[in-house]
Amino acid sequence: MGEKNKISMAVIRRLPKYHRYLKDLLDRDITRISSKELSDIIGFTASQIRQDLNNFGGFGQQGYGYNVEELYHEIGKILGVDRGYNTIIIGAGNLGQALANYSNFEKVGFHVKALFDINPRLIGITLRDVEIKDIDVLEEFVNQNNINLAVICTNKDNAQDVADKIVNCGINAIWNFAPTDLRVPENVIVENVHLIESLLTLTYLYKTSVEDED
Ligand code: NAI
Repeated sequence: MGEKNKISMAVIRRLPKYHRYLKDLLDRDITRISSKELSDIIGFTASQIRQDLNNFGGFGQQGYGYNVEELYHEIGKILGVDRGYNTIIIGAGNLGQALANYSNFEKVGFHVKALFDINPRLIGITLRDVEIKDIDVLEEFVNQNNINLAVICTNKDNAQDVADKIVNCGINAIWNFAPTDLRVPENVIVENVHLIESLLTLTYLYKTSVEDED
């Protein structure tokens, strides 16, 4: 139904937070929650929550609140975590290996099928049964393994070249950790993660709070 054309990015960016809080509630065997209670724990206003969820047809019932399990699964479906994503990581250095070793990604359907690198000393090593392969076999591997997502963890200077290779293999979703803005065709989705931007927000807020005390 072309949800992405209608739903604002601000709402989309809030959904993972709902998903995480609902999972915590489920883990605590809480089956039902009012929008006021959800608002108290999640920090969005009750009206914001109702508005957000109404974008998808609404899930609550007047006087009952939300069925936690149903809402968790519905939001998961909207986010697409009910599918599996065959993923590759390009750049098997510190960050690439850390991501490959993080088993919780599998819980949201993100399955790392291989890592790729240009460093001969890394090629052939396995991490949690996943092999680091030579970047030269990228295209062949992608064609044979129905790969949906690629993660870029190479150094900045090689990231654009790697992105071009990924796109040429037919992958159109990239999770980019390299500190550079990638140029890709319009049909290719890039989600950037820049921890340093978050850190600089923290340093700004810290600096401001210290200045306020002075
Ligand atoms: P690293 O130097 O340990 O790993 C980079 C790996 O990429 C190396 O193994 C290298 O051989 C490989 N590589 C380089 N060119 C390649 C190519 N064309 N094809 C395949 N592999 C290639 O670096 P580290 O610490 O793992 O960082 C990786 C990237 O992630 C850097 O760009 C760094 O700035 C970035 N980074 C981003 C963060 C974020 O929050 N977005 C946090 C930490 C690092």
